[in-house]
Amino acid sequence: MSFNVAIDGPAGAGKSTVAKAVAAERNYIYVDTGAMYRAMALYFLREGTDKSDEAAVSRACKHVEVTISYEDGAQQVLLNGENVSGLIRTEEVGNMASATSGYLPVREKLVELQKNLAKRADVVMDGRDIGTCVLPDADVKVYLTASSLVRAKRRYKELVEKGVACDLSEIEKDIIDRDYRDMHREHSPLVQAEDAVYLDSSDMTLKEVVDSILNMIDKKRGV
Ligand code: DC
Repeated sequence: MSFNVAIDGPAGAGKSTVAKAVAAERNYIYVDTGAMYRAMALYFLREGTDKSDEAAVSRACKHVEVTISYEDGAQQVLLNGENVSGLIRTEEVGNMASATSGYLPVREKLVELQKNLAKRADVVMDGRDIGTCVLPDADVKVYLTASSLVRAKRRYKELVEKGVACDLSEIEKDIIDRDYRDMHREHSPLVQAEDAVYLDSSDMTLKEVVDSILNMIDKKRGV
């Protein structure tokens, strides 16, 4: 039986940094499910699909195949065979992913892929619905969050370091809007699983968050 760690939480809570570090410490495979929704979103953007037209998004889904592979341990996302990992980190793709991930045909396509990955290997998987829908029997479940201001400041710092001009209050507004959409959609909304451990990282260092999850893993494994 594979060992599965589920990390859910809102945008910008640091899930991927934390999940990557935990996976590296324990030699598990890191699965970034948001990247899969982003790859689908890139397809819709390229096709000019209207994100508010559910029927059009559903039709477009039939032409999309998302797969993942690993290069030097780093997840690569393939969209119909093309490696799009370097193209999916923009705000435009993130907003399209947030809008279209609410549709059932999009979710059904990706959830099956995610379940299969977790069956085959020990994984740390991050997303919005991992502990609730994708891996309801995960061995360790964490709901990782931080205040919207802290998350906006982290994103602001990242963008400034990349030389991108931005406005902190606009970033925070974007984060609040995204949270609302992710938490209030009909299918698999972002919600803390009943058996997930709630971690607010607003006043925690990365090491503190990672160590606390490593402790949960060790406890579960009886180490
Ligand atoms: O984590 P992220 O910002 O890369 O995710 C992009 C969008 O994909 C996010 O707004 C919601 C959606 N998503 C989802 O619905 N379910 C997941 N398991 C992961 C992401």
